[in-house]
Amino acid sequence: MKITLVGAGAIGSLWAGALAKQGHSLHLWRRQPGSTYTLNWQGSHLSSAETFSFDCNQPHQLADSNIIIITVKAFQVTDAVTTLLPWLSAETPVVIMHNGMGTEDEVLTLLPDNPVIYATTAQAAFRPDPHSVRHTGNGPTYLGGVNRAGQECAALAELLHAALPPCHWQTDIHAPQWQKLAINCAVNPLTAIHQCRNGDLSAPCYADELTAICQEVSAVMTAAGYPVTTDALRQQVITVINATATNYSSMQQDVAHQRPTEIDAITGFLIQQANHFQIATPVNTRLWQQIKDLEQHYG
Ligand code: PAF
Repeated sequence: MKITLVGAGAIGSLWAGALAKQGHSLHLWRRQPGSTYTLNWQGSHLSSAETFSFDCNQPHQLADSNIIIITVKAFQVTDAVTTLLPWLSAETPVVIMHNGMGTEDEVLTLLPDNPVIYATTAQAAFRPDPHSVRHTGNGPTYLGGVNRAGQECAALAELLHAALPPCHWQTDIHAPQWQKLAINCAVNPLTAIHQCRNGDLSAPCYADELTAICQEVSAVMTAAGYPVTTDALRQQVITVINATATNYSSMQQDVAHQRPTEIDAITGFLIQQANHFQIATPVNTRLWQQIKDLEQHYG
């Protein structure tokens, strides 16, 4: 398959290398100028290390692609899709994978005819330098179509599964997206504010705050049609905190490097939905405000 990957950050580079290893022809679409990009790819086993040289930013390769995979951050999705429009064929499936929610309506307006598929992944990757990526954690990826044409693309889950298992096709992608958003609401702002590892959140001093976050998130999820109890959500959060104890969350790293965070697509989306259902979310709103304040005071 000819695949264009847009946004070769940690997760994008991980998928680019994994798909290239399967024999697919990868082309990258990057903000940085340059017609080639060298990537040192390291899978979960040392023996899997490989160096790739990918073509970049070639409009004819974009136009010829069988699949487009967009792995930019939520706040970059609209811009990324807009830049592709002049060359994008209306039949090409577009897969969008990011933390958080809330980009779907704008994407569907920009791409009224393309099959549009959203994905959420628990795979983890680390970039020790701008030309290297390491696969640091394994977890499921869920995909599902968000328009009629997208719902007919279940075979994409098999293609991605062969590269980086496990991948599962979902008839309602919003269910796993909400699940991931709930975990991100609990872990990301706290680790970013306190500049700590995920595992540090299991300390007793965070217990009440985590419960309060889960209470608010479960109320909003239930109103949105994805019922979950506070206790079940809290248990899921604790499981992720323990499984990723030594990791720094993506938002912790964004704040540490003074990069814009995904707070609006994570806690911001939750608050927006809470307003819609007239549910009070004082704890999540305070965390959202604290992250916004941190971003405003970057040097
Ligand atoms: O954003 C992240 O870092 C991850 O989604 C998670 C699950 C919080 C683990 O670090």
